[in-house]
Formats: sequence, structure tokens, C-alpha cells
Amino acid sequence: MRSAFGRIKTAFLLAVTALIRAGCGKENLTALVPKGVGAQKSMDLIILTTAVMTLVFLIVIILFVVVLVKYRRKKGQEDYIPEQVEGNKTLEIVWTVIPILLVLVMAVPTVVYTFELADDSKAKDHINIDVKGNQYWWHFDYKGEKIQTSQDLYVPTGEKVYVNLLSNDVTHSFWIPSISGKLDVNPENENTMYIEANEEGVYWGKCAEFCGPSHSLMDFKVVAVSPAKYKQWVKDMQDFDPKKFKPDTQVAQDGQKLFEEKSCIACHAIGPSPVATGPNLTDFGNRERYAGILEPTKENLVKWIVDPEKEKPGNKMTGKYPKVTEEEAGKIAEYLMQLKPSSVTPETVSK
Ligand code: CUA
Repeated sequence: MRSAFGRIKTAFLLAVTALIRAGCGKENLTALVPKGVGAQKSMDLIILTTAVMTLVFLIVIILFVVVLVKYRRKKGQEDYIPEQVEGNKTLEIVWTVIPILLVLVMAVPTVVYTFELADDSKAKDHINIDVKGNQYWWHFDYKGEKIQTSQDLYVPTGEKVYVNLLSNDVTHSFWIPSISGKLDVNPENENTMYIEANEEGVYWGKCAEFCGPSHSLMDFKVVAVSPAKYKQWVKDMQDFDPKKFKPDTQVAQDGQKLFEEKSCIACHAIGPSPVATGPNLTDFGNRERYAGILEPTKENLVKWIVDPEKEKPGNKMTGKYPKVTEEEAGKIAEYLMQLKPSSVTPETVSK
């Protein structure tokens, strides 16, 4: 029969592993469940290096235990001096060569993958997106398609998409754990890498370089859809004419007016615009999160518009517009939530 202590121990271990697994978190925000080419290569390297290190660890431990048991000093051996092996050429060579071989086993694929993933010589044959990092949001400019979005990055599955990374302020780092490795987003030089999603999904992206008080809130989403859906999305976005767009309720129409009166429009573009200084809101109603982090509810949006500082300290929206009451914010929210230019949305990806 198992003792009470044994049962407590089992329960404790279960709780700890559950906590650890919960900490590793969402399936669409972990490098341990790769859903893209870069992430898969990283995973291959993680497995390879872990295997090599485990092998070394086991051999060392086994040798250690064998020596400890077999060669420990026994009774009557107090004055015994074992054979001395210092300067033994064969041994020196063996324990120099083995680590070199092991390092090579890990280094060669790492270097090969690194160069493969950084290769942008074929970029012009693929989709190119200029990515701008800002405190604390992301802008995506589809050069060839003449589309702009912020926070939600739509890509077709099974295709290389080249992202050209540049920052508007401080250094950020572009990272979609399930899809690819991370790359610095600098203000002074452009870095390019490609991302390639294997299957449809909404994958969470993160800023991976400390960039200010809301660094941890600088999230974005990658919406990977089939090439057919992507084509549809591109067409819908291109066809959307912000000047002709009229919300279908009076409240939302009032919101549209307030959007101009409260000078939201001074920073936020709807439709393609090269000069906007704030996030592009063309497909705002389809966003997976508001402000990158908030569940997409009207309540959250109102809170955000009334006092963005509370949700994202240090953001650059705070103080840029006259005071907005909750009622006014509610109207603006109704308007923004109707901005749904495409039927391809984060909800329509097959999970
Ligand atoms: Cu941007 Cu951290």
C-alpha cells in the first residue's frame, strides 16, 4: 500500500508539472510547438543539442558512479598509489577530440540553418512587407499590394513572406515564436528575414527587446490563411474605399464624425496612407485584439479610448487628442468595430 507521503509527493509533482505546462502557455505562442519553417528548424536544433548534451551528461554520470564504487579506497589500501596517467598521449588526444567532434555536430547544422534562414537573395520573387516597430505597436506595409495594416499581419500559408524590419524609435525585436526565430528591429538599418507558416492559424507575435514601460504589451498577431483566402483578403482590402464607407447605425455614424472632430484622424489612417503616425485602422473591426492586448469587446475599446495610459503606459496616443467622454468613446467604438473590409478574419482560419 502506498503511504500518505507517497500520495502527497505524487500530487505535488503533478501540480508542479501542470504549472510548468501552463506556463509554457498557448499553443500559438510557443517555439516548442513549431508551425512554421524557421520555428521547425529551431526545434530541430533544440532536439539535436539537447540529445548531445544529455548523452554527455549520462556518460559522465555513469563513469563517475562506476569510478566512485569500483575504485574507492578499500581496507588495507591506505598506502596504495594507483598508476599515474598524467601526460598520457592517447588519453589527452581522446578527451580533446571527442568534445571537438561533439561541438562540430552541433555547430555545423546551426551555421547552415542560420545562413539558410537569413538568405534574402530571392526576396523579390516573393511577398515583401515593410514592418515598422513603434512604441508599442507594429505597422505592416504590403509594398506590392498597396495595403497597410497595423497589429494584424495576414500571410498565406506555405509561402515565403519577406519582412523588412525597421524601427521608428528605439530598438525592438520581431518574434513569432510558433513561426520563426527573432530578429532585431533597429532604427538605423533594415534587417530582412522570411517567415513561412505551415498551416492556418492565428499566431501571436511579441516584441523581444526591452523598449520601454509597455514592452511586454507590444504584441501583434499573424493571421496565416490559405493562399486562396489570402488572395481574397488582398482583394477585399484593395477594394475598400474609406471615403464611401458609411456605418449602418446612427450611433456609429456619430462615431465616424467624432473620429474626425476629436482629431483621431490626424494620427490614424483608414485605407492606405503613407503619412499616418498612429496604427492604421482599416480592418480594425476584424482585429484579434484591440491595442494588441485587449479582448475585442466594446467595453475594452471604450476604456482604451478614454484612457489609453491606463492600459499601455508610455504609449504615444495619450494626450494627443481632446478629452473624450465615455459616451463619445462608445460612439467611436461602434464606428471602429464596423470597419470590416474583408470576410477573411482571424475567426475564419481553420484551427
Ligand atoms: Cu518593442 Cu519591446
